[in-house]
Amino acid sequence: MQNTWNTALYETQHAFVWQSATDLIELLSPQPEERILDLGCGTGQLTAQIAKSGAAVRGIDADATMIAKAQQNYPQLNFEQADARSFQTEEPLDAIFSNAVLHWVKEPNAAIHCIARALKSGGRFVAEFGGHGNTHTIAQALINACAEIEHPCTLPWYFPSLGDYASRLEKYGLEVVYGTLRDRPTPLEGKDAGLANWLRMFANGILTSLSPELQDRVIQSVEAQLEPKLYRDRVWIADYRRLRLMAIKPLSH
Ligand code: BEZ
Repeated sequence: MQNTWNTALYETQHAFVWQSATDLIELLSPQPEERILDLGCGTGQLTAQIAKSGAAVRGIDADATMIAKAQQNYPQLNFEQADARSFQTEEPLDAIFSNAVLHWVKEPNAAIHCIARALKSGGRFVAEFGGHGNTHTIAQALINACAEIEHPCTLPWYFPSLGDYASRLEKYGLEVVYGTLRDRPTPLEGKDAGLANWLRMFANGILTSLSPELQDRVIQSVEAQLEPKLYRDRVWIADYRRLRLMAIKPLSH
């Protein structure tokens, strides 16, 4: 079930996606003139932050509406529609950066193959995305809510362990030099509507085939299940767990 991206809802209610990645850019440490790819750039906010370093950055995203919005937001930067599982670059890259994207790529080896191929020797890959256990409480409530109305619920996400992803990177010749998996409880924007907004944004592949009434019923069921666990002082807190990695393509000897 493919997710459809509503860029207005993304930018107005989910700014935490890029606002929480400032220190990931510090880990990337982009340098002037470096050729850097922002893999899964969304509406371009992090591409623009990387560009401030003087690096020559390009953003790619599989979704055409995201790319159109990124280009409208930052007309001076380069964006292109391309899939993480099949992208190619004309010249080898100094670095590939990716935030909150790779949990959507259920064929990780295809993406890692493209990443390893695109880096120059000595180039680095810096990424953060949902790791093992990410949004487990929300996912379980969604599965239960769909079961109540006998609606199929195939989750569109892949949340690997550190060992799983690191060994895939190694299989494709990258050296993992840093890796962490940590809880990052994440307040959702929109107060009482925060969880509903999140579900409409990120679980729409499951919801859109339902009538508006049944969508509301599923969302209300998820909210009722999660209220005791994830709702405090009128704010929904999502049970995010972040996997953060840095890997290097070794220098050829
Ligand atoms: C995340 O960023 O962790 C996430 C986003 C959408 C769905 C599930 C998880």
